[in-house]
Amino acid sequence: MARFLMITATSGTNLELAEKFASVACSKNHDSEVIDLAEMDLPMFTVARTKNPDECPDLSVLTQKMIDADAWIIVAPEYNGAAPPTLNNAIAWLSRDWKNFRTMCTGKPVGLATHSGGGGQHVIMAMRSQFAFIGADVIGRACLSGKNKEANPETIEAMIDNLSS
Ligand SMILES: Cc1cc2nc3c(=O)[nH]c(=O)nc-3n(C[C@H](O)[C@H](O)[C@H](O)COP(=O)(O)O)c2cc1C
Repeated sequence: MARFLMITATSGTNLELAEKFASVACSKNHDSEVIDLAEMDLPMFTVARTKNPDECPDLSVLTQKMIDADAWIIVAPEYNGAAPPTLNNAIAWLSRDWKNFRTMCTGKPVGLATHSGGGGQHVIMAMRSQFAFIGADVIGRACLSGKNKEANPETIEAMIDNLSS
């Protein structure tokens, strides 16, 4: 049994996709939780804000969940050929606690998924590069879906199996 954390950058079709991954993980007797970064509504990261503790969000609960998870599935729509600001913003805030950040990222098995307006290839490439950079082990298979393409159930199953083995 593996503990999955599905992290979605937006609360619409990508949240639905994250929930699909969670239900497939549960059907295979894994633990799974969905975190919605848009719903967290974090303030925008700026260096100026980091200098005032009252303006810094407390991310200790999220950090612990990310450390405890055996694998993450990052689900995000493509925005202008890249990842949406909610994801980069959360990563910037999380990286301030750099010791825990390193611990939770290094060697973490990560799967990538998107529901985008178009094909979603650009956001998958952007996230692959970023998550590899922060030390995660990003699996090769990714789940791309959009208005004209349903998420492939076989891909979701294969990703869950790969990340839990
Ligand atoms: C600011 C913005 C930029 C976008 N840029 C792209 C893009 O570059 N490529 C693309 O395929 N879709 C783009 N889209 C469409 C979203 O990827 C698409 O609507 C997605 O399904 C939204 O996810 P959600 O339903 O979880 O909010 C963009 C949407 C917004 C709001």
